[in-house]
Amino acid sequence: MTSSTDRSAGLMHWLDERLGLQEAWKFAQKKQVPIHKHSVWYYMGGIALMLMVIQFASGVLLMVYYVPGLQAAHASILRINSQVDFGWFFRSLHSWGANLLIAVLMVHLFSAYFMKAYRKPREFTWYTGLVLMILALAFGFTGYLLPWDDVSFFATKIGLDIASKMPLVGEQVAVLLRGGHNIGQATISRFFVIHVAVLPLLTLGLMGLHLLFVQMHGMSEPVYFKKLEAAKRTYEKFFPNFLLKDVLVWLLAFNGLAALVTFMPWGLGPEADPFAPAPVGIKPEWYFLAPFQFLKIIPAQIGPVEGELFGALLMVLFCCGLVIVPFFDKGDSPARAKTATYYGVVLVLAIIVFTIWGALS
Ligand code: HEM
Repeated sequence: MTSSTDRSAGLMHWLDERLGLQEAWKFAQKKQVPIHKHSVWYYMGGIALMLMVIQFASGVLLMVYYVPGLQAAHASILRINSQVDFGWFFRSLHSWGANLLIAVLMVHLFSAYFMKAYRKPREFTWYTGLVLMILALAFGFTGYLLPWDDVSFFATKIGLDIASKMPLVGEQVAVLLRGGHNIGQATISRFFVIHVAVLPLLTLGLMGLHLLFVQMHGMSEPVYFKKLEAAKRTYEKFFPNFLLKDVLVWLLAFNGLAALVTFMPWGLGPEADPFAPAPVGIKPEWYFLAPFQFLKIIPAQIGPVEGELFGALLMVLFCCGLVIVPFFDKGDSPARAKTATYYGVVLVLAIIVFTIWGALS
């Protein structure tokens, strides 16, 4: 007669032969998390992951009732807000969650940057991260139009007008996204498909790669920590020690999010009227305020070049620093390391200053 222990050992053996469980367990056990005064930043990626899961889950629920139609979009959101059980909660969760996710991603990006986690062997972790940041902003941009209220309509119009100014492909991309020269049904359909199908698929694939790279290379160590003698460098296991702390942080972050969702439910403006004049002081979401404000202060014409085009190119060029940094600052030149740090500080300050300036003006 076989005991239950034998049976479960047998089952594990059967599964292991087919799924390589032991190998996976060894791979999971490999990761250790360094303990030092900057360890707090190691929680940011995990919070982003938790928020991403919330975005996927709440987004799927919203899709059940949202209708991507010119006449129906706004009404369907009104219905979600006022008639569907817990509809207001999940809509508010999705909208607040998106904002929090982008804020956390910015912190994650810059904390990884200042810890110099882009250096060898983490270049691909860095690049998959950069693309994930762009995808998160694209989620924000495409999702903003879907409720079809006046602010979302005009903010999208301004965004696409700016995109159309980009050299070579700008106009074609804007026409493709709009589905013509005006924002209408074709635009809602395209934004909807991009928001619920294209971006999620790309994000899932890239997130898988990003997390695989993190697991392969382990957590990066700050420069000063690496220089400590071996006895002074302490680590903890990722499974289960750090993961349990991660879960605690997720619970705290989720409580903060739930408080925002409940006490400050996300609003909905009046239905968009494409023929009405733009409401005064129209502004994009906070995460697009910095580029928006920068373009506003650029003169209409700079020499032979249109001001907006000049400003947009300048910003793209400036942000290219994030792309070249893994090859510029490889860790073998203190002067380059310093330059990279200064560049990061200037970029962060510029984003903060222009965002606050945009919000106040
Ligand atoms: C959906 C978006 C993202 C998710 C879910 C995510 C998730 C994670 C997780 C769980 C970690 C390990 C823990 C940690 O270091 O915080 C990590 C590490 C890392 N992430 Fe992300 N991340 C995302 C976006 C980004 C972005 C935008 C960047 C920057 C361009 C980035 C760059 C990195 C780097 C360089 C590491 C390694 C950090 C180290 O070894 O110290 N990630 N990410």
